[in-house]
Amino acid sequence: MDQKTRIEGLSKLKVFTGNSNPDVAHKICEYLKISLGDAYVGRFPDGEIDLKINEDIRGSDIFVVQSICPPVNDNLVELLMFIDCIKRASAARITAVIPYYGYARKDRKDEGRVPITAKLVANLICEAGVDRVVAMDLHAAQIQGFFDIPVDHIFAFPVLCEHYKSLNLSDAIVVSPDVGGIKIARAYSSKLNIKMAVVDKRRVGPEETEVGFVIGEVKDKNVIMIDDIIATGGSIAQAARVLKEKGAKDIYVGTTHAILCGKAAEKLASAPIKEVAVTDTIPLDGREKPLGEKISVLTISELLGEAIRRIHTNESVSAMFV
Ligand code: R5P
Repeated sequence: MDQKTRIEGLSKLKVFTGNSNPDVAHKICEYLKISLGDAYVGRFPDGEIDLKINEDIRGSDIFVVQSICPPVNDNLVELLMFIDCIKRASAARITAVIPYYGYARKDRKDEGRVPITAKLVANLICEAGVDRVVAMDLHAAQIQGFFDIPVDHIFAFPVLCEHYKSLNLSDAIVVSPDVGGIKIARAYSSKLNIKMAVVDKRRVGPEETEVGFVIGEVKDKNVIMIDDIIATGGSIAQAARVLKEKGAKDIYVGTTHAILCGKAAEKLASAPIKEVAVTDTIPLDGREKPLGEKISVLTISELLGEAIRRIHTNESVSAMFV
């Protein structure tokens, strides 16, 4: 496709969604004041995915919104099939908007004979034919480099920081529940203009962590503990107990990706935690119920909508986070 046709085509912005997170896709479209693209994503009787786009997309600038969240493998294949379908329907440009990038926690060979799934998934997405990717709070920022195409890395901290500002907490401190989260905790600490501390957590099994000590003074402070993911809830529940032992006042947990698998919500409900604020990168579908009034769900759809608008009109995306 020549450059002129490609640029003219980009005037038509369209957003499609798979089955992983249609609510966020609808809210993105509300923000952009467009209707959601018309597509059918169903199943054949044997469980294979059946997909058809029901409108003309030739020469359009297409954004497909899909989280790689449970059911992880189905949602990943839906995304790959969507990209393949859009490419074959002659779109001008395809952007995968991935609010939650799953398989990200295996981002290096930390022992022998293990896969690097974060790279494998990037390869699959590129091979399917995508032109660019928008991802939110990647588990490790270097995953951007696993793609040889542009990646816009979006952060949820403006949404969570607004929430914490509205709570007007006195004597607050940001805490990272592990050393890996220091960079993101620093972003919160600078945006909220408060100090930070770090919990020294080590993972000893998929559901088990060990906490050594806390770096920083949390005594008599209201803690805002930030993590990118809550999966089993083990890390956060254990860190909350240690922080309480160290004299912390109320503990507020803020997380972008609420996987909340197994008994995670129960575990958090029985931990010394006042509130768990999560975003809607992954639909909760009732898994949060055991947390009752303790849960707050914030939407990242406007952030994603604004990123899509800026990509479409060739404006800076990083300027959203200064
Ligand atoms: C670890 O590096 C992550 O940031 C999270 O702390 C971790 O994935 C949470 O897992 P879980 O909720 O199962 O402890």
